[in-house]
Amino acid sequence: MAEKKRPLIIDCDPGIDDAECLLMLQGCGLFDILGIIPVHGNVPLAKTSVNALYLNNKYGINTKVIKGADQAIIVRNPRAEFAHGKTGLANMEINTDGLSFTDGYAWDFIWEKAKEYNGELELIAVGPLTDIAITVLKHPDIVKLVKRLVIMGGATTAGNASAYAEFNIHQDPHAAKIVFEAGFNLTMVGLECCYTGYLDQNDKQKVIDTAKKTSVGDLIEAFARFDEENIANWSVSEELKKNFYEHKVLCDAIAAAVCIDENIAKYMDLNVIVDVDGKLTMGQTVVDWFGFSGKPNVHVAMSVDRERFVNMYLDCIRSYGKEGA
Ligand code: BDR
Ligand code: CA
Repeated sequence: MAEKKRPLIIDCDPGIDDAECLLMLQGCGLFDILGIIPVHGNVPLAKTSVNALYLNNKYGINTKVIKGADQAIIVRNPRAEFAHGKTGLANMEINTDGLSFTDGYAWDFIWEKAKEYNGELELIAVGPLTDIAITVLKHPDIVKLVKRLVIMGGATTAGNASAYAEFNIHQDPHAAKIVFEAGFNLTMVGLECCYTGYLDQNDKQKVIDTAKKTSVGDLIEAFARFDEENIANWSVSEELKKNFYEHKVLCDAIAAAVCIDENIAKYMDLNVIVDVDGKLTMGQTVVDWFGFSGKPNVHVAMSVDRERFVNMYLDCIRSYGKEGA
């Protein structure tokens, strides 16, 4: 008998790696995806939401797409067009004619589904945490109603949006603080963990060759082309560019892998506090390695098994195999 699918809601800001995350969560076949909630983030909500609507339809997810928050609770930090393109999806042409969003408020939807699934609902958030924070503020019992919350966000050493802050947390530090302190069964997949699951040149080619035989080939090829042209324009050292290019990191897809199979990662249970006051450190996920501040509140994913991740990613892509391919 087929195993019962795990109920899941995905909050995301597509976003190239958000798209890869969605492909994995759908492709693995393990989840009953109850809804996709696009949130502001990599690009404004007007674009993340259209991208989510497109991906939902194009790759057979066919679930409800309910718009989330269009801005952070307090701060207004720069978006990430430099990494995802002006549209958020590598400047691809997309068409959403005839598709529509599901009406309603994301935070009410999450809460209602959590109640309906009675402790079984899983949440994954791979963008700014605004929607999850609003859910906590409006429906505090959400914290105990969901089985677990996996986030891609935060860093244990250095940031990628500022010296100390990772992008998703930097976009809405106040929301992140609420979520980290709420009492969820929370798994943080931060930057350092994602870096351990990089794709090397060989893997990148394998991904393209595999994808070409499937219905996600165009998307994966467009992402690869975009990357090649885009990284060249970044204002970072040549050494760093080379490193980015040779070690491709799909952050949100790593969070998807942790969601699919938690055994793919190694963890430490730690107390992590989001700094919302620091001049240099606003948005930093401050990790208390020695436990000065009390009880651990986060399962911090420290590393993933790289080979397993690459194979899992390839398997998920294969699931989109074209008829007869
Ligand atoms: C995160 O920032 C975004 O640009 C990505 O989509 C990912 O969620 C990585 O820091
Ligand atoms: Ca994202």
